[in-house]
Amino acid sequence: MVDAAAWPGAARTDLAGHSVGTLFFEDSTRTRSSFTLAAQRMGAHVVDCSGAGTSVSKGETIVDTALTIESMGVSALVVRCTPEDGVRAVADAVQCAVISAGAGAGEHPTQGLLDCLTIAREFDRDDAFDFSGLRLLIVGDLAHSRVAGSAVVGFTKLGGEVICCCPEEMTPGPPMASSLTIERDLDRVIQDVDIVMMLRIQMERGADPGSMNAYTKAYQLDARRAALMRDDAIVMHPGPMNREVEIASEVADGPRSRIWTQVRLGVPVRMAALLHCIQSTT
Ligand code: NCD
Repeated sequence: MVDAAAWPGAARTDLAGHSVGTLFFEDSTRTRSSFTLAAQRMGAHVVDCSGAGTSVSKGETIVDTALTIESMGVSALVVRCTPEDGVRAVADAVQCAVISAGAGAGEHPTQGLLDCLTIAREFDRDDAFDFSGLRLLIVGDLAHSRVAGSAVVGFTKLGGEVICCCPEEMTPGPPMASSLTIERDLDRVIQDVDIVMMLRIQMERGADPGSMNAYTKAYQLDARRAALMRDDAIVMHPGPMNREVEIASEVADGPRSRIWTQVRLGVPVRMAALLHCIQSTT
């Protein structure tokens, strides 16, 4: 799908005649737009039903909203919501395909897939997707990050090793904690990894960084720390970035950054996800 996602170019027609509903009950820039573009580039129509402008604000449940859009005729629903079990509840209620676009602090599967694709292409592992020998360091608010939830699942399933570096209060609990090593000293651990993934502090999910000064001093990826990394090591960030908090602009915009590659690869990953899920339910 990577070639097919190139734009401008001829769109594919695999999903011509299908409609896809995007139900976003939480804010989104990247994920919503790239699901929309992905559906369009596969030839599908998109109906967007998101956030404040919907009847959820009148008390309708997420499941009833999903049943409403499904009744109008869609082949797939793309759902982002705050309850961790919300996407599952929709999937249990409707007949069409349901794809998670991020469920609470739990999982964000297409982000995990696009992160793995970015890494596979960068380190020439995109033939067999064997990540053995690769070390991924995730830094920051793992406790509240669904991006980390899916990155850890994907990366370890492909044979890589995950290390996390964060303050005590942002340490992930089980089950994520069982598949990674926890470190506190970023200057030390950053020297010995292939990929550094920075995370935003998820204030809206109750994260409390305490003193912002102390947090940035200990965990911000700035130019001094980036210079400690291996020559071929890369920097990733799922976005949205809080520049000068978890990442300094000179690193975000610097030569190690693959942040815009991640965004770009989100479109083909979602084209593949839509095709796969719609084909397996229709
Ligand atoms: C994230 C999300 O919403 O889970 N962004 C994304 O989808 N790329 C990460 C975040 O909000 O920090």
